Amino acid sequence: MEAQCIGESDGLKFWLARPQDYDEVMAISQDVHLGHDYLPHRYHTWMTEKDRVTVLARRDAKLIALESGLVVDGGRTVVVEGLRVCPSERGHGVAGVIQRITDGYIKQVYPSVNIKRFTRVDDPGPEKLSKFIVLALRAVLSLIGEAEGFNRFVVGLKAKLDSIEKTEQSTTTNNQLTVLKDDQQLKALLLDPDLSTRLQLPGGAIIQDWLPLKPVESNLEILKRKNLTWLADTTNDKLRFMSFHTPPYPVPFNGGSLRLTIDMYGENLPLARKALITHLEQVMGELHGTVLVNIYLNQTLWTGMQKVCEGDEGVKQFRDYWEQLFLERELS
Ligand SMILES: CC(C)(COP(=O)(O)OP(=O)(O)OC[C@H]1O[C@@H](n2cnc3c(N)ncnc32)[C@H](O)[C@@H]1OP(=O)(O)O)[C@@H](O)C(=O)NCCC(=O)NCCS
Repeated sequence: MEAQCIGESDGLKFWLARPQDYDEVMAISQDVHLGHDYLPHRYHTWMTEKDRVTVLARRDAKLIALESGLVVDGGRTVVVEGLRVCPSERGHGVAGVIQRITDGYIKQVYPSVNIKRFTRVDDPGPEKLSKFIVLALRAVLSLIGEAEGFNRFVVGLKAKLDSIEKTEQSTTTNNQLTVLKDDQQLKALLLDPDLSTRLQLPGGAIIQDWLPLKPVESNLEILKRKNLTWLADTTNDKLRFMSFHTPPYPVPFNGGSLRLTIDMYGENLPLARKALITHLEQVMGELHGTVLVNIYLNQTLWTGMQKVCEGDEGVKQFRDYWEQLFLERELS
């Protein structure tokens, strides 16, 4: 595939990324997200994904940076992902330059886009935040263990839940979760105008493994291609809880590990505990080697979930409490 140059600035040339740039992109990504980087797994999908633009910055022939944007929400929003600058070039403003070029190119190709959204780990501080609106914060509970240990972990979780239910005298019938296999049922739930208030959706969005999407019809196709497994408490008239997991995928951590992401919505702790068990049961056959589990959830649920997960010898908490920030700014 012939390289396509989209602009020049600050001594850098900007190109649309191609499949054959993979090795160079990986070479500047060695330390990204402490080895939990999704890009090695997603790069080739990104190359052909509809409404995605991935931009590379080069100085002469050398690859310096990458930024990618996916146009969502019916063409109104671009969600930017994957930003990285090669280690030797960090601290000189390259991230700002590639973002400006990418924003401009996306505006040119998709003139209807007027909002830019992204999620990130660290708090950039008030000075950098002044450019953005913080739409939401989500808590993250991180676990790690060897695949063989997850069976025993789930058995332990079930035993804990039984005893909690006995002491809390809560009836399990109130807390039933269904695996949603019917696309029409899922569509009806996601497009329910009350969904956002019922489930306290962060910034009114569903964040699928760091990708924030409004629950609107045009985004359903994007969610569908992620091959998610959805759970919801459909036995109740009013939805109180929904969750899904993204199929486990490889990340570079520790010479090669699996990353499992579980996104949870709602503030109901008993349902969140049950959902964790069900999601783990659903993926058990796919687990191998070291497995990193990130559970993204409402801040009010973190301590309760952390407590129920502690005490296992094989599956342990991997990080202290941390948060996912969801940010937005206008794209002029
Ligand atoms: C984070 C990283 C991309 C910053 O790159 P950098 O070129 O060293 O950043 P600089 O501080 O020199 O550049 C400052 C500009 O980049 C922006 N910027 C810096 N870090 C950013 C981030 N994480 N997200 C968005 N913008 C960022 C600043 O807002 C500033 O923009 P401005 O010039 O428009 O004011 C780089 O350190 C990196 O590649 N880290 C590893 C990968 C990673 O953590 N990526 C972040 C994903 S959220």
